[in-house]
Amino acid sequence: MISRAGFGDLSDILRLEQVCFSDDAWSVLDVIWKLTSRSTIRCKAITEAGLCGFAAAEFDRDKANTGWIITLGVFPQYRNQGIGTALLRACESKLATPQMRLCVNTNNSDAIHLYQRAGYAEVGLWPGYYASGCDALVMEKNG
Ligand SMILES: CC(C)(COP(=O)(O)OP(=O)(O)OC[C@H]1O[C@@H](n2cnc3c(N)ncnc32)[C@H](O)[C@@H]1OP(=O)(O)O)[C@@H](O)C(=O)NCCC(=O)NCCS
Repeated sequence: MISRAGFGDLSDILRLEQVCFSDDAWSVLDVIWKLTSRSTIRCKAITEAGLCGFAAAEFDRDKANTGWIITLGVFPQYRNQGIGTALLRACESKLATPQMRLCVNTNNSDAIHLYQRAGYAEVGLWPGYYASGCDALVMEKNG
């Protein structure tokens, strides 16, 4: 089930960030900010065992018709069941902008494949974007 995430999910989302992104994980302050900011859309996937995935999205600060997926992660034991795709779709439909964008580590073939399947295409590259020094692929979906 997908529902709205909030401050009560802080510890689960911090753990998810570490498991999913290690060196590039959001800090505690980043997560607190994203869980409390009024301009952030937050979706969590939950099972009987608790939170299994999380995604967040925001409007572009300069282009009101553009939304950004700012994070997406699913605990390893819950992957390949459609949860990542469901979280992505939930964020897209809550923002409801004609254009969506996101950035993804160029090494992350699993995520790139998921985004391509969801209709995103490569539109740019941000060299050295991640804390780890890796490049980010910018992807976009229209309509
Ligand atoms: C990327 C990530 C979010 C994908 O999450 P996920 O829940 O595994 O995503 P999905 O299940 O929707 O899709 C993954 C694959 O499972 C397949 N799948 C979906 N439902 C399925 C089902 N019921 N049975 C079998 N396979 C299924 C999909 O077709 C897809 O395979 P494909 O890419 O070969 O087409 C997850 O791997 C993750 O958290 N990675 C670490 C964090 C990360 O990299 N995030 C992205 C940052 S930009």
